[in-house]
Amino acid sequence: MASRPAPSDAAPAATPAPRAGRLIGVGVGPGDPALVTLQALETLRSADRVVAPVSAPDAPGRAESIVRQVAPERRVVRLAVEMRGPEGGYGPAAEQVLPWLDAGETVAFATLGDPSIYSTFPAFAAAVRARRPATTVEWLPGICAFQALAALTGTVLVDGTESLSLVTALDGPGHLEEVLARSGGAVVVYKGGRHLPAVAASLAARGRLAGAVAGELLGLPGQRLGPLAELADQPAAYLSTVLVPPARSGQPTPDAPEP
Ligand SMILES: C[S@@+](CC[C@H](N)C(=O)[O-])C[C@H]1O[C@@H](n2cnc3c(N)ncnc32)[C@H](O)[C@@H]1O
Repeated sequence: MASRPAPSDAAPAATPAPRAGRLIGVGVGPGDPALVTLQALETLRSADRVVAPVSAPDAPGRAESIVRQVAPERRVVRLAVEMRGPEGGYGPAAEQVLPWLDAGETVAFATLGDPSIYSTFPAFAAAVRARRPATTVEWLPGICAFQALAALTGTVLVDGTESLSLVTALDGPGHLEEVLARSGGAVVVYKGGRHLPAVAASLAARGRLAGAVAGELLGLPGQRLGPLAELADQPAAYLSTVLVPPARSGQPTPDAPEP
């Protein structure tokens, strides 16, 4: 009869506790690789891993394409994000980076523009922290699309005590119209490419079309920019931004519709 091995006095081998990793949201600007900051570049080069969100795993995302241009030596791991479901679809992407964070690694998450402006990074970081609360989360600023468009078109967005609103027009110009009705301040419109003609019509109705500029695919193949009045004859790409300068003295007031 087989005898059982004698119990050992030695303590069972302990599973090593996960180490706290570091997750950095790296803003890589709107498209032009020259707009990646030195700090971002340094982090992309020194991080143990570089990851970037994609909607389809077999195609590079915008942020990944920018990283490839400034740090071609780095391998970029694609994180598939479905943008729906629990945790905004970020659960599987968060699971993907846990082994690296548990090994104490630094993971750089590349995101278009700035991580604090309509970025995928906050939701991704929240999904990671829900699983590994000890993870250190940091943010590196990036140049926003609206800043790039202001520079490319020489638009003074705000001056003195003027104010600025940032709205989205994914489902139409509703948010823009609310802002126009209550203020003559500057407005930036994001996510409004599909509704560019309606955005222009709302501005014209409030006497604010003159001076408004639009930029599509800034810093990317297919870039178009210029006066909104000239570009709004048809819908534009999702990556389109509109700048509406304040109603300044000598210019039409919010209540004076343009002819
Ligand atoms: C999900 S938000 C990302 C914003 C980005 N985090 C930022 O700081 O600018 C996407 C929107 O940003 C604007 N955008 C981002 N990149 C752009 C580009 N290269 N050209 C024009 N607009 C852009 C567009 O309005 C687009 O619909």
